[in-house]
Amino acid sequence: MSSYPYADRFAVHRRLPEEGLARSEVLAQLHTMAAEEDAFWETGKCSGTMYCGDHEHYHFMNDAFGLFAHVNVLQRDMCPSATKFEAEIISMTLDLQHGEAAAASGGAPCGLVTTGGTGSILHAMLAYREHGAQHRGVTRPNVIKPETAHPAFDKACHLFGIELRRAPVDPVSTGVDVDWVRDHVDDQTVALVGSACNYGYGTVDPIGALSDLALERGIGLHVDGCLGGFILPFGQELGYDIPVFDYRLEGVTSISADTHKYGYAFKGSSVLSFRTKELRNAQYFYLTDWSGGKYTSPGIEGSRSGGLIAATWAAMVQFGRQGYLHYAREIFETSFAMQDAVRSHPELRMIGHPTFLFSFTSDDFDIYHVNDFMRTRGWRFNGQQYPNALHMAVTRPQTRPGVVAAFATDLADAVDYAKAHASEAPKSGAIYGGVAGGMTSEADEFIRAVMADMLDAQSVIPAG
Ligand SMILES: Cc1ncc(COP(=O)(O)O)c(C=O)c1O
Repeated sequence: MSSYPYADRFAVHRRLPEEGLARSEVLAQLHTMAAEEDAFWETGKCSGTMYCGDHEHYHFMNDAFGLFAHVNVLQRDMCPSATKFEAEIISMTLDLQHGEAAAASGGAPCGLVTTGGTGSILHAMLAYREHGAQHRGVTRPNVIKPETAHPAFDKACHLFGIELRRAPVDPVSTGVDVDWVRDHVDDQTVALVGSACNYGYGTVDPIGALSDLALERGIGLHVDGCLGGFILPFGQELGYDIPVFDYRLEGVTSISADTHKYGYAFKGSSVLSFRTKELRNAQYFYLTDWSGGKYTSPGIEGSRSGGLIAATWAAMVQFGRQGYLHYAREIFETSFAMQDAVRSHPELRMIGHPTFLFSFTSDDFDIYHVNDFMRTRGWRFNGQQYPNALHMAVTRPQTRPGVVAAFATDLADAVDYAKAHASEAPKSGAIYGGVAGGMTSEADEFIRAVMADMLDAQSVIPAG
């Protein structure tokens, strides 16, 4: 599929058009692109990414967004509504995470609203680095994450000069090896990481054991609930087998939970909560002697749009607890039905003890053959490696009538196809967020090519 399907149909703007286009013309082009792109996932055959998929809800959030999109929430004297929205988003999230348990044990639960999962993880890692330096004199900070934890931790450590130690996971359960973690904690360790759940397998790390270890060693424990933070708590309430991973465990010191995933808000919002204000406050940046005035902002970003905060708040209060419970039940039941379809094939193997997201592989053939075939039927999975596996993060579009049945039928045909082509090399391979076509080049070259494809190819200035 071309990355530039519109190049032949709409003008390519390599420089600003001399005269602006009519609004109606601009909107007509946007409507065409949006409708075609929505059709891709509206089939219900796309893993993750479209967590809600309800256009009525999107219209509602667009109304909320539009009222505040032009507002800069850095100027709070002009928009006290942003203070209400932000504080309530944090408070409602802390409630789901049993913030009251943190308060009862002497904490002062609090949070930040960030721009997404990566944003929350960046702020958390920065807070641990700064807190370690301020309170323990740590000069060479390190963090220990399960190998399965999201690359945003690697990115944060890279950006902030933190050493990242990657702990192995149990190959069957996919939970982190806590003994390994214990053996690698030292006096420069500022935090441990556990996922609830991880992106790859939808499994939850042994957070209870990590919490005990963090308490024993007097260090932080960040729980990455970016993906699970707005669905696993409802799954627990519905009685599904999901271990405790929140502030009820005394060693848990921060949690990331993405409103822009199962919170059904627009992309660009997430909540990072902390057990104590001392930890959150450690990451503040301020400059008091600048000629432009005394400067401070709550996080890494400067100006932020009020639209996202308003729309996120609107989504949360409009669904309410019962709304989230309702959709969580539908998603879990759909995931379990799809997992049954996978388990009905002896050639396929489910990995770990999954939740709303499951991952499967095969010991008989390369699972990417299954992917190759499923693509011809419109399915888009996320591809994994070590071992090669496919994952399906079940979202609301899959809960629509007929999708599970189509999955079962297509999967059966895909297994037949994989068996027939087992001796050949599959066409697809592992890439985050989607499944790439044949990946033939070396990593560095590949990354540059993918980025150039996204960013440079239509530029008037030749790509360097
Ligand atoms: C477990 C987990 N953590 C972090 C992230 C990063 O979130 P974002 O893409 O919003 O930055 C993701 C994204 O899927 C995730 O699944």
